Order: sequence, then C-alpha cells, then structure tokens
Amino acid sequence: MLSSARRLFAVAGRNVRSFQTTSSAFSDNLFVHRDSPEDNASIPFEFTAENQKRADAILSIYPEGHKRAAMIPLLDLAQRQYGWLPISAMHKVAEILDLPKMRVYEVATFYTMFMRKPTGKYHIQVCTTTPCWLRGSDDVLDVCKKKIGINVGETSKDMKFTISEVECLGACVNAPMMAINDDYYEDLTGKDTEEIIQALMDGKEAPAGPRNGRYASEPHGELTSLTEEPKGPGFGLQPGL
Ligand code: FES
Repeated sequence: MLSSARRLFAVAGRNVRSFQTTSSAFSDNLFVHRDSPEDNASIPFEFTAENQKRADAILSIYPEGHKRAAMIPLLDLAQRQYGWLPISAMHKVAEILDLPKMRVYEVATFYTMFMRKPTGKYHIQVCTTTPCWLRGSDDVLDVCKKKIGINVGETSKDMKFTISEVECLGACVNAPMMAINDDYYEDLTGKDTEEIIQALMDGKEAPAGPRNGRYASEPHGELTSLTEEPKGPGFGLQPGL
C-alpha cells in the first residue's frame, strides 16, 4: 500500500510543472529598500515652495476621499525635484496623502519610471522590445554602452548618464527609439545615437524626434494610401452622392 502511494506521488511529481516556466530576468531597478548613506529615512525631504504649490494644485484635482489617486503625480514631482526617489520622498508623499507608508512603497516599486537609486542627469531608456529590436535596438544600446563606458543599470561617475533597457515605450512606428528624460529620439541608427550622446556630453541640445527626415510617424517616402481628396459623407450609398 505504502509503496503504491509512493509510486503515485512520484508519477504525479513528474507531471507537475513548476510555476516559473521562463528564465529569470534581473531588472536594473531596486525593488527592495536597503538603507544606504544616500538613501535612508533620516535624510529630510521637503517639496520646494514652488513644487509645494504644484503639489497643492495636483491634490485639488481629486475629490475628497480620493486624494490617494494623486500618489503617482506626487511621486513624479518628488522625483523631478530630487533627481530620483529616495525613501524620505516616499514618506513625504505618504504623509501628504495620509496613507500607510507601505501603500506608497507598493506603487513606487511597481512602476519602473520611479528610480530608486541615484540617477544621472540624462536618463537614457533604450527600448529593446521586438519592433525596436527588429529595427536595430541592439546597435543603439551598444553605442550607448560603449560611448558612455557603462552597462545597463549603471550611472556614469560624473552623474551625467544612466542607461536603462526598457520595454515598449509606445513609439514602435518610429523604431528603434530611446527616451532621454522626457524626450523621445526615434528612427535611430547607431550613428544617430552616437551624435545625440556626443551633443549631450558637450553640453549641447540634441533635437528630439525622428532622425530619418520624418516629421512624425507618417510613411517614409511617398504616400501609399489616402492619396486623394476624401469623398463626402454618404459617398457610395446613393447614386447621386
Ligand atoms: S517596441 Fe520599441 S517603442 Fe514599442
């Protein structure tokens, strides 16, 4: 009896799939807090007077009882002020929203837009999802790493550049692309990428947008559709129209 039960468990064990079926990927973001000299709760964080006004304006959008919906805009404001999101800024947001700190930690560590460690002046996010990858995002990422001399998830010693590898940023029609702070750089080649980074290294502006002559996401070259004046409403429904 005992041995047949063992046999049953052994067979069942062979047929049970483990929960994780894909390989583990390590993110370059910090999802747990570790006290460090630059990030611990004893470092004070206050919004500047100007940002406090912005925070008040953000809060005023949300009705009483739903102020917690202002959490992401407030965290974003804190990050824009500080350059990244230290634990004391999260505590400040929890205090403003009168929420347990854990509620703020949950949000701040879920969204990869929140940087939980010191971040360079220029945060370069290279999209390597399939459309960008098919169009050459490997080249873009390689140039970033070689030109700046750091790897993904690292920040240059002069605190000027941080490189992140990210999933689709919603500009696939202009693939490959990268975001630098709030700007999108699109239709990139390795050469474009090098020029953009060099401009930033030299303290110059690097114009954002497509780099292949397109204005936005229109077809590259001649129009292939919508080439004639649109017909009027109801066209084709009655012989007279
Ligand atoms: S796949 Fe790169 S922006 Fe969508």
